[in-house]
Amino acid sequence: MKITVVGTGYVGLVSGTCLAEVGNDVLCLDVDPEKIRILEEGGIPIYEPGLQEMVRRNVAAGRLHFTTSIEKAVDHGTIQFIAVGTPPDEDGSADMKYVLAAARNIGRLMTDYKVVVDKSTVPVGTADLVRATVAEELKKRGTEVPFSVVSNPEFLKEGAAVEDFMRPDRIVVGAEDEQAILLMKALYAPFQRNHERLIVTDVKSAELTKYAANAMLATRISFMNELANLAEKLGADIEMVRQGIGSDPRIGYHFLYPGCGYGGSCFPKDVKALIKTAADKAGIDLKVLSAVEEANDLQKHVLTGKIKAHFGDLKGKHFALWGLAFKPNTDDMRDAPSRTLIADLLAAGATVTAYDPVAVHEAQRIFGATEGLRYGDSPTACLEGADALVIVTEWKEFRSPDFDVIKAKLSAPVIFDGRNLYDPKFVRAAGLTYLPIGR
Ligand SMILES: NC(=O)c1ccc[n+]([C@@H]2O[C@H](COP(=O)([O-])OP(=O)(O)OC[C@H]3O[C@@H](n4cnc5c(N)ncnc54)[C@H](O)[C@@H]3O)[C@@H](O)[C@H]2O)c1
Repeated sequence: MKITVVGTGYVGLVSGTCLAEVGNDVLCLDVDPEKIRILEEGGIPIYEPGLQEMVRRNVAAGRLHFTTSIEKAVDHGTIQFIAVGTPPDEDGSADMKYVLAAARNIGRLMTDYKVVVDKSTVPVGTADLVRATVAEELKKRGTEVPFSVVSNPEFLKEGAAVEDFMRPDRIVVGAEDEQAILLMKALYAPFQRNHERLIVTDVKSAELTKYAANAMLATRISFMNELANLAEKLGADIEMVRQGIGSDPRIGYHFLYPGCGYGGSCFPKDVKALIKTAADKAGIDLKVLSAVEEANDLQKHVLTGKIKAHFGDLKGKHFALWGLAFKPNTDDMRDAPSRTLIADLLAAGATVTAYDPVAVHEAQRIFGATEGLRYGDSPTACLEGADALVIVTEWKEFRSPDFDVIKAKLSAPVIFDGRNLYDPKFVRAAGLTYLPIGR
């Protein structure tokens, strides 16, 4: 099939590449010429395990192309995926300007049947808006060209995105016309050879499903974070509580890890956008989700609170920080808890040397030349001259460090662990003060 992907970010690049991998002819469009230049030169603009090799393989096979030409992109695909960003607007609602710009371009230039597929996370009702936008452009041209609009939200996880796309748990397709449903079924058949995973719904239900999924996961995290804070005060160990409840199949183990708050490009913005949609479009105050968001905002300061409680005045203190990305296996720092922590520590007069296996370039882009913030080449290099160590991201390489080295390098020596990576007894036996979350 001939497929165009509009927006070559985390979702667009992974989707386009995986669709090429199964034999489709894919053209990825982006308005950012720098991204396209990197891709055309054989690089990739983001860190995502397994993606670079897959991009190279499919480019070499002539199935995957990149462009900044809107004309070429609209002309190419019968299926036009919209995978542009939907960042929060000032009031928390999802900003639809990129999605609607993409729809406008399709309507302005299409000359034959197109299936316009919303893959971006978009509020309920967006498919109707996209349909109206395409129709308006066709009307301006005085032409009638048939088209369908489909909602096909993406559930991939950064850090495991290729695997998630190639072996999805489910594929949700919100569509109301048979021709589009048939095409989407054929498109996704290669990804579900062992059993049917495609769920066809009406368009609005598909749009809401994506928000419901992210809101549920965010809720589990905030719930556990609040219980962790409680466990700590009561003298219980949240990790034991987690095991105790996770073993109940009605609850399960996933997404019950307490920590220093959730971040990333999806949960914070999607929770906000759902609250806003409910208030504006339905007059409903989503009380649970408002609390989820509030709890998370507080949790992002939980490490700062522990550090201040331990040291008092932080002026002149120096901290080693392990982990900048919002989670392991990505360089994405959108809404990352590390950003809140760094801002808190610097504001309190402390200095920071940070290490992350892949996100340092992203931190440098975000923080620029911020006074008091430096970067280390390795976890150990970071410890040089530090009073204490703070862990923010659970990268695998942090899971079994040499505690003797940590103890020797830190002046305090204390570890504030925002991800509960270690057995407290083991770390304490090594002579370190260990302050995890909820234990
Ligand atoms: N990142 C994730 O893990 C993830 C997972 C599921 C769903 N989503 C959703 O997918 C959407 C995209 O997210 P992302 O993380 O890939 O965003 P991103 O910011 O990484 O990529 C978006 C890309 O779209 C490009 N763009 C903007 N307007 C354009 C236009 N008119 N034409 C062509 N390109 C344009 C931008 O230059 C950018 O490269 C969002 O709605 C997001 O909520 C993201």
